[in-house]
Parts: sequence; structure tokens; C-alpha cells
Amino acid sequence: MKVNLNGKIDDIRAVWYESPVIKMIDQRLLPKELKIIDIRNTQELYNAIKDMAIRGAPSIGAAAAYGIAQAKVLGEDLDNAARLIKSSRPTAYDLFYAVDYVLSHKGQEEEYAKKYVESIVEKSRKIGLNGNEVIKNQTRILTHCNAGALASVDYGTALAPIRIAKETGKKLFVWVDETRPRLQGAKLTAWELLQEGISHKIIADNAAGLLFSRDQIDMVIVGADRIASNGDFANKIGTYEKAVLAHEHGKEFYVAAPITTFDFSIEDGSKIPIEERSEDEVKKIGSEFIAPDGSSAYNPAFDVTPNKYVTGFITEYGIFKPNELNRLKKFSKEYLEP
Ligand code: MRU
Repeated sequence: MKVNLNGKIDDIRAVWYESPVIKMIDQRLLPKELKIIDIRNTQELYNAIKDMAIRGAPSIGAAAAYGIAQAKVLGEDLDNAARLIKSSRPTAYDLFYAVDYVLSHKGQEEEYAKKYVESIVEKSRKIGLNGNEVIKNQTRILTHCNAGALASVDYGTALAPIRIAKETGKKLFVWVDETRPRLQGAKLTAWELLQEGISHKIIADNAAGLLFSRDQIDMVIVGADRIASNGDFANKIGTYEKAVLAHEHGKEFYVAAPITTFDFSIEDGSKIPIEERSEDEVKKIGSEFIAPDGSSAYNPAFDVTPNKYVTGFITEYGIFKPNELNRLKKFSKEYLEP
């Protein structure tokens, strides 16, 4: 992605590897500060994923892949490293996929971690090309959370088709849900769209109903953290209600994700583990507490949208309806085969 780094336009990724150091953009500081941090061991990687210095399913997977390579170079016990990395966040399937993929290439961990990440970048680019096919000129698109280059090493998942559509000369407008409580939309998606010169406005999370009712939204594109075999999928809390609204108003609702987000070991969305984060994220805005001391809060980080609301899954292999996902299954183990 193109960024303005110390006054100079640079092309960088959300995460990369300079053996034995993992480098990543600290996403907690954006848009105020673009800072690259160094991850020097597995404990530091665990902290970076858990505290969301890096976030977004494919980027978490990429960081985890590098983590196994780094643990190998540092002479750490690989089983312990894998256990710790996998315990950092429970919902994004890419994390588990990436760790198992690199571990399955014993003795070649660095080489295969790099291969994994290159393939995520290529997959994101193809998602962009495939998704562009369903975006018409003059479309107003709603997106939720951040499913851009920051979340997917480069290009993005939900934002990749939008980038390509803009490159091909289509006129677009993006409604950006702010995405409480961590504000990934207001902070990260808006920042990426601004860097790319894509026209957009941030809206409060509860504004979408009004915009749908006034016919100001043509389609929805979101990312995913885990997709079950039947097409039920987990994404950032608040996604489900946008899907119901799109359905009610007869608008298309697409989910953009690489194969590494599909968990074919589970039948439906009820089996997807949902992360619960600190209540302080809800009780605070930024660093300031806004709720009464005596009130407690509940903070599930993801919700599960039933497959019936999904028009199609935009993947690197094409676009699939929920009832066509069995055709994707054969690709899901491509990495893990000997
Ligand atoms: O909690 P986060 O910020 O990691 O959640 C991210 C999302 O929900 C994204 O939409 C999802 O990971 C897809 S990213 C390409």
C-alpha cells in the first residue's frame, strides 16, 4: 500500500520479515502516527496480536506464519511457540491455518512463511480483480470495520475490489462504519481510502438504517474472520445487523475473503468461537472513560451472520454463493498437502 512515511511516499505492507525480526505497522497508532515496530520473539508477537498492534484475519495469519519462522531461527521450542501464537486471539481462522501450514514444512519454516505471505498478497489482488466484476459504475458501497491492506498484508479483502474499481476508472463512493468500540472504520479504513484518493464518508454505526431507508446505499462489501462450511460467517461485531438491513432493502451483500479464512471443519456458524474483549473498550472512547464507574459492559468482538444474507463470497478462485462453497473445499488444503 502507498503511504506517506516521513514526508516520502513509500510502498509498504502491514507486516514483513527481516530475519529474525518481524516488522509491522502499529495499527493502534493510526491515523495519528505511522510507526513501524519490531517483534523480536514469540512473546512479543503474542502481545502484538492480542493487543491489536496487528489485526485483521489475513494479516494476523501472516504475522503468525513469520512467528513460526522466527521461533525456529531463535531456537525456540516450536510446539510451545505455536501454542502461544494460537492462543493470542480465537476467532480469525487464518491464524490457525498459517501456523499449521508453516509447521507442516519442517526444516523449511522461513522459506514457507515467506511463501505463505506472498500467496496472501496474490490472493488479495485476485479478490480485488474478481470483486471488481460486481461493482458497477457510480456505486455507493457500505463497508464495516477495516478489511483493507492493513488487515490483509496488502490490497485488502473488502477494499481490494474497491481499489481495483477505482483504478479501472469507475466512480465510487464508500460509506465507512466507524466500528465501535475500537473504531477500525473511522481510524483505519478512512485512512486507507484517503491515501488512495477514494471518495468516502464516515458514519456512526447506527446510521446505516437511515441511509438504507433513503436509498443511499447500493451494496455492502465486508471481510470475514471465519467462514463455516455452510457460509455462516463471523466478522466484526455489527456486521450481522448490516446484513439484515441489506436484505430488508433488497441490496447485495458480499463477503470478501481468501481460502485461509474458510474453516471447512465446522458445519455452521454456531461452532465459531467468538472473542470477548475487555469491557474497558466499551466504557472508554480513546483513553477516556465515558461510562459511570459503577456500570459494567459486555464486549463481544465479532458476530455471526447467517448464510441466507450473503449474495456471494468474493474469493481468489471466483465468486461463490453460500450453497456453492463445497466447490471451494478442494482448495482449502492446497497448502497443507505434502
Ligand atoms: O478485531 P479485528 O480488527 O481484527 O477485526 C477485523 C475484522 O473483523 C475484519 O473485517 C476481518 O478480519 C477481515 S480482514 C481482511
